[in-house]
Amino acid sequence: MTQKVQITIDGKTVELPTMEATEGTNVIDVRGLISEGMFTYDPGFLSTASCDSTITYIDGDNGILLYRGYPIDQLADQSNHLEASYLLLNGELPSQSDYDHFEDSIKKNQAIDKKFQQIFDGFMQGAHPMAMVGATVAGLASLYHKDTDITNHDDRIKTAHRLIAKIPTLAAMAFRHGAGKEFIEPDPSLDYAENFLNMCFGDGGPSNVSPTLARAMDRIFLLHADHEQNASTSTVRMAGSTDCNPYAAIAAGVSALWGPAHGGANEAVLNMLNEIGDVSKVPEYVEKAKDKDDPFKLMGFGHRVYKNFDPRAKVMEESCKEVMDELGIEDEPLLHIANELERIAREDEYFIERKLYPNIDFYSGITLKAIGIPTNMFTVIFTVGRMPGWISHWHEMLSAPYKIARPRQLYLGEHRRDYVKIAAR
Ligand code: CMC
Repeated sequence: MTQKVQITIDGKTVELPTMEATEGTNVIDVRGLISEGMFTYDPGFLSTASCDSTITYIDGDNGILLYRGYPIDQLADQSNHLEASYLLLNGELPSQSDYDHFEDSIKKNQAIDKKFQQIFDGFMQGAHPMAMVGATVAGLASLYHKDTDITNHDDRIKTAHRLIAKIPTLAAMAFRHGAGKEFIEPDPSLDYAENFLNMCFGDGGPSNVSPTLARAMDRIFLLHADHEQNASTSTVRMAGSTDCNPYAAIAAGVSALWGPAHGGANEAVLNMLNEIGDVSKVPEYVEKAKDKDDPFKLMGFGHRVYKNFDPRAKVMEESCKEVMDELGIEDEPLLHIANELERIAREDEYFIERKLYPNIDFYSGITLKAIGIPTNMFTVIFTVGRMPGWISHWHEMLSAPYKIARPRQLYLGEHRRDYVKIAAR
């Protein structure tokens, strides 16, 4: 039953309706507050739902993540990234023929216009691949601007297919450019993750990608596919709410993902493990992370929403072991450091009190390193994985009435004052 909440402003009682969630926390609908001359204040959106959505649900206290109602561990075990992408975008699991059509459409859209090679050539070889991916995703707008009608459902779906199809190709082009190697065309006979690995590591001949590594890569994509209103998805929604070109909105999401507090954490985890260098130095770094005068944080630990465990981290830890076994890696020094870090952090009051657990990025970095992906590509891999989530949220927002996202502020600056000429200051 819908409840009402009363607040009193300057002696006047205002009644605010609540809205009921199908799962999780209900919300107070504060939209009517503006007519009472007051806003709410919530920097970082700690207590604010910025929209309603039917795509993904997270129960952070119990470590639950559902894509359209399906638990992430079931999808990771039994589904694949393309099927999960279809699910996120369309709301239901596909029938066999729906899946075949979707896969066919993705394969038909994988190629990138030849002119884009020149954009990559314009980047220095050492350029960060996220800079290249952000620029080229935005660049897709130049190809599909006039013929994309964002108010049209079919055009939005076409855009989603293009982006899900093209992002691995752009990611592989960024990788090959960084490695100083010729680009390898997508191969429609390969599945999504195998094709990506072949574009990265192939020699132009038939694919010799190991099925275990392709499966691990696919799982990494699937585990990252959506995570409700995280910083990059909210950025896509915010940019998209201006009715801008969808490729531009997604490029905004790519930029937001890059930061080490978000998608850049996987790269930061590996850099941190390398910096620690030896198991004996782990306690020193744990102390640094606890020291309030030291900005250092344990990368790959903590989450705004998960306050018990990150269900993606559990699956990722399994995948990490599978990859190590497949590659016969028994003695990965970084894994020893990671295990020790995790052991100490799990026993330390500081981390227990604050409910800081390893997140997905803690294990994904080690797995990606074992697959042979260089550290600066880790966030690009996250970008490939997150694409269906971003575009599904954009599509969901545009499928119902929406408003431009325009937050208000609590102004704490100067009162009105008169300009003083420079000579008189
Ligand atoms: N190491 C040490 N202390 C930490 C850490 C950490 N990784 N994370 C949070 N804390 C402390 C923080 O200093 C604060 O302490 P106090 O209450 O004494 O001031 C307390 O825990 C609460 O942290 P917060 O910064 O208020 O939490 P938040 O929800 O604003 O930030 C976070 C969440 C993920 C940005 C943060 O935990 C963090 O920076 N973690 C490291 C980066 C990381 O691994 N990010 C990837 C997240 S998972 C991938 C994704 O979905 O994007």
